[in-house]
Amino acid sequence: MPYTLHRGDALTALAGIPDNSVDAVITDPPYNSGGRTSSERTGRSARAKYTSADAEHDLANFPGENRDQRSYGFWLTLLLTESYRATVESGTALVFTDWRQLPTTTDAMQAAGWTWRGIASWHKPVSRPQKGRLKQSCEYIVWGTKGPVDANRNPVYLPGLYTASQPRKGRVHITQKPVEVMQELVKICPPGGTVLDPFTGSGTTGVAALREGRQFIGVELSAHYADIAEARLHNALTQDDFELAGPEE
Ligand SMILES: C[S@@+](CC[C@H](N)C(=O)[O-])C[C@H]1O[C@@H](n2cnc3c(N)ncnc32)[C@H](O)[C@@H]1O
Repeated sequence: MPYTLHRGDALTALAGIPDNSVDAVITDPPYNSGGRTSSERTGRSARAKYTSADAEHDLANFPGENRDQRSYGFWLTLLLTESYRATVESGTALVFTDWRQLPTTTDAMQAAGWTWRGIASWHKPVSRPQKGRLKQSCEYIVWGTKGPVDANRNPVYLPGLYTASQPRKGRVHITQKPVEVMQELVKICPPGGTVLDPFTGSGTTGVAALREGRQFIGVELSAHYADIAEARLHNALTQDDFELAGPEE
């Protein structure tokens, strides 16, 4: 089977993944963001923080969104340290974040041992304009390597800017990433190599990995989202253009 999905906590599952066994960690952790103050960030659910009032979907909440700023930094460092151990020399980490958690994410990546290499942007063209403010139209992909880049192992030229709307038709997760963006990002993993996503959600990274001929190891804590990820991964192997039918926004 070209994929494995662990159900449960990421740190617990990562401890069972052998040293130097994955080629790329590509993940979209809970951002623990979505508020100006500590109480707004720690007291509200993921749904309350990341679903706009006029959204037409009724997607399930997900856990892990209520750490305060310091605990988030420590926790993300632990996660990225275990991910580093599990990654081969010259392997890559790509970690999604938003503008608020960008400094914490670059700190955590470096504290975990990765060599921070840069930031790519995911630009969302239909994001909402805000009166008197600059529009928040991007999320960010912090990336680094375990030691030196080995361009001979995977001689790709990848863009630093990805423009795509959030999935609307068939959306199954509150913070689901566009599979077309993930299909470009997984190319940082050599063909046939293994992509690890400790925060699988609905399985978008895994679907992208399988479509692009990479293997996949995922972890998801929410039983609801693990079921969805399992179905999407299974279908990615059999139906190339598979998307679970879901509510339209
Ligand atoms: C930002 S979402 C990922 C969404 C995903 N990129 C997608 O396209 O569907 C983060 C996911 O991490 C899961 N999660 C939260 N805490 C976790 C933990 N300790 N271990 C594993 N998964 C966790 C949440 O349930 C959520 O589905």
